[in-house]
Amino acid sequence: MRITSINSEPIEEYLYLNVTPRPESRIIQSTLPVLKATVDQLPDELDAIIATSDLQGRERIRDCESLPIKLIGEVIPARLARWLTQEGYSCDRIGIVLAGDFYAAPDLQKRGATGDITSVWQAFENEFRWVVGVGGNHDMFGDEQNLRPPASPRAHFLGSERVNLDGIEIAGLSGIVGNPKKNFRIKKRDYLERLTNLLGSPTDLLLTHDGPDIEHLGLRGTPEIRELLSRLRPPLVIRGHKFWEQPLAEIAGGTQILNVDSRIVMLTPEDSVEAISKPESGSL
Ligand SMILES: [Fe+2]
Repeated sequence: MRITSINSEPIEEYLYLNVTPRPESRIIQSTLPVLKATVDQLPDELDAIIATSDLQGRERIRDCESLPIKLIGEVIPARLARWLTQEGYSCDRIGIVLAGDFYAAPDLQKRGATGDITSVWQAFENEFRWVVGVGGNHDMFGDEQNLRPPASPRAHFLGSERVNLDGIEIAGLSGIVGNPKKNFRIKKRDYLERLTNLLGSPTDLLLTHDGPDIEHLGLRGTPEIRELLSRLRPPLVIRGHKFWEQPLAEIAGGTQILNVDSRIVMLTPEDSVEAISKPESGSL
């Protein structure tokens, strides 16, 4: 799978509460943009794939129906589904890709809290055809480190494994390079070995939370992952964990890296005849 175009102008936006990095740790209102991109092909069963990660915030108090205020990842699926339905889409023909880090502390006291995001996966699963994803270093499923979400026919958690969904070969590696005693962290050597093993089979899409840097563009990531991907050459990687100003870049060898940290990207086929226009105002 290859991305053939991506629009920098959002087609939809959602407002939410976010926290600035430490030591400031100030609660701010952020905008979550939905960007439209096209891919060279999608299976007949799908009209779109929607990818996102690093939604480490909560809904606005004015939007919440009950306390505590919900994770933004818990409420976005229903809002997305409502908007997509208005635009003429069938959500049972849309797959969801989650690249990790969907938790924020209930009091939003500091950025980088770690906690249970089972409800986020369930919220996406309730609205869409399938969900595939990896764990981020701030994600837990239940109250212990490194657990997986509950097994479900339509939700596919990839620790270090692959799955074929509607004919798309998807490989996924959870976690980041780091101290393995901490949640969803792997020694660098082990991370690279797992990635090598995963990419030993033909892969349409590689899904990771950590990912490569793009040194000459100043885009943050792990150089050794870039070097490995340059040799193994999967066509497309979707990643999170480090925010990039630009969502898409290409590394030596031709692999495209789509960074969905703090954004939603909607991938539709190139020959898609529909045209979504930006609404006059946000939906909140
Ligand atoms: Fe992360």
